[in-house]
Order: sequence, then structure tokens, then C-alpha cells
Amino acid sequence: MMNSTIENMLQHVSVRSFTNQPVTSQQKNNLVAAAQHGSTTEFVQAFSIIEITDSTLRNKLSDITVSSTHVRKADTFYVFVADLHRQANILRKNNQSLDSIKNMEALLLTTIDTTIAAQNMAIAAESMGLGICYIGSLRNNISQVAELLQLPDFTIPLFGMTIGVPSSKNQLKPRMAPSNQVAINSYNEAQFNDLSSYDKIVKNYYVNRETNPANTSWTDKNLAIFKEVHRADIADFLRKQGFSLN
Ligand SMILES: Cc1cc2nc3c(=O)[nH]c(=O)nc-3n(C[C@H](O)[C@H](O)[C@H](O)COP(=O)(O)O)c2cc1C
Repeated sequence: MMNSTIENMLQHVSVRSFTNQPVTSQQKNNLVAAAQHGSTTEFVQAFSIIEITDSTLRNKLSDITVSSTHVRKADTFYVFVADLHRQANILRKNNQSLDSIKNMEALLLTTIDTTIAAQNMAIAAESMGLGICYIGSLRNNISQVAELLQLPDFTIPLFGMTIGVPSSKNQLKPRMAPSNQVAINSYNEAQFNDLSSYDKIVKNYYVNRETNPANTSWTDKNLAIFKEVHRADIADFLRKQGFSLN
């Protein structure tokens, strides 16, 4: 039996157009609480959430996203910050080396914790009938975002999230068949790469969708995305924030 939580999850679509109706402060409190109550590596809670209420700042962030102009209009906008700065301060106060928060393992940890918090917020928002969209395109200029938000060392603005009352919703985007993504006991190379049926389904979705129809399959789309290197400045930014990338 499917319950209402799962039903809501299976109805997920990113929402990019919102009514002017506000998200209430009660709703915002619940959203933040949901985010804070996710699982977190060894209870370290290595993330921070910054709500952007200043309209000048909001417009600057929207400009950075270039294509995600809905950032300007959504009632509520949060930036999710991967954050090991508290831990850095604790180590500094105790005259300890920062090596344990500089390495790749710590970078993964904080990225994972932050993403879990965000997805908890997304599920909570959708359960209240609100719509959300992740905004990774903040990383188009990650240094400028860090500057605008006055982020200290060992923090990373991973992505934003717009939240509001949906004024329209896109069609559901068809996901892969479970056999393309789920295996038992070991990686299933053949099954996971047998994407011809899925390509037909996705092409059918893109050709027939109401907004921005396109004659493209999932494979075509991924080729277009990954044949180019994106945001080659990220590693330099992470080093600037104190990470060693070792
Ligand atoms: C980490 C992350 C970053 C994203 N960044 C953006 C973004 O900058 N702008 C945008 O319009 N959508 C963004 N999206 C939304 C995805 O494009 C969307 O989830 C995907 O196409 C699947 O569509 P659906 O969410 O409607 O099912 C992002 C999603 C994730 C998970």
C-alpha cells in the first residue's frame, strides 16, 4: 500500500513559477525544522542555511544563476551551505591541526549532510503543497556567492532552493526503470546501461511536453552535458576556502 508520503514523493516536479502567495512563517519554521532533523554524519550537522530576504541580494544571486530567473520571484529562497567552519573553530581553540576537515573525506561528509538537509526540506515543502526548485546554478560564480553571503573558511554555497506556492507545474519527468538503477549484491553493468527503452520514453516526453519541447533522448542530453567541462574554477574555490582536495 502506498502511503501519502510516498505518493507525494512520486508526484515531485521542480516548480519554477509561483503565485504571489507567501510561505507563512509557521511553514518556514517547519521547513527549517525538517531540514535540521535529517540524519547527519556522526551528529556533526555540517551545514548552514541562509534565507535570502534582501531583494537586492536576491537579484544579484538570480543574475548569477543566469537561466534560473525564477529565483527573483519565488517567495522564499534558501542557500544551503556546506559548513565545517564550526569544527574549524573548535579545532583552532584547542590548538589542533585542521587536516581532518581539509581532506576529501570531510568535503564529502559536509556535502552529504547538507544535501540530506535540503532534501528533507524539499519533502516537507511538497507535503504542504508548496513547490521547490534546487538552484545549482549559483555555482556559476561560486566565489561571488561566497563573497555576497560573507562565507568564512570551510564553507561552500552548494546550491539554493526556491520555495513557493506553485502557479503551474511541469509534467512529471519519467525516471529510469528500477532495473536501470537497482541491482542485487553487485553492480549490473549490462542492465544499468541498457538504456534504449528509457531513451524512447524520455524522447517521447521531450517531444510532447508543453514547454520547451525538444527532439532529444536521455542519452543525447547526457552527451551534450558531459562532453564539456563545467565550472572548472570550483577546485580553486574549494582550496581558497581551506580544503586540500587530498
Ligand atoms: C543539485 C541540483 C541543482 C539544480 N539546479 C537547478 C538550477 O540551477 N536551475 C533549475 O531551474 N533547476 C535546477 N535543478 C532541477 C533539475 O533540473 C531537476 O530536478 C531535474 O531536471 C529533474 O526534474 P524534476 O525535478 O522536475 O523531476 C537542480 C536540481 C538539483 C538536484
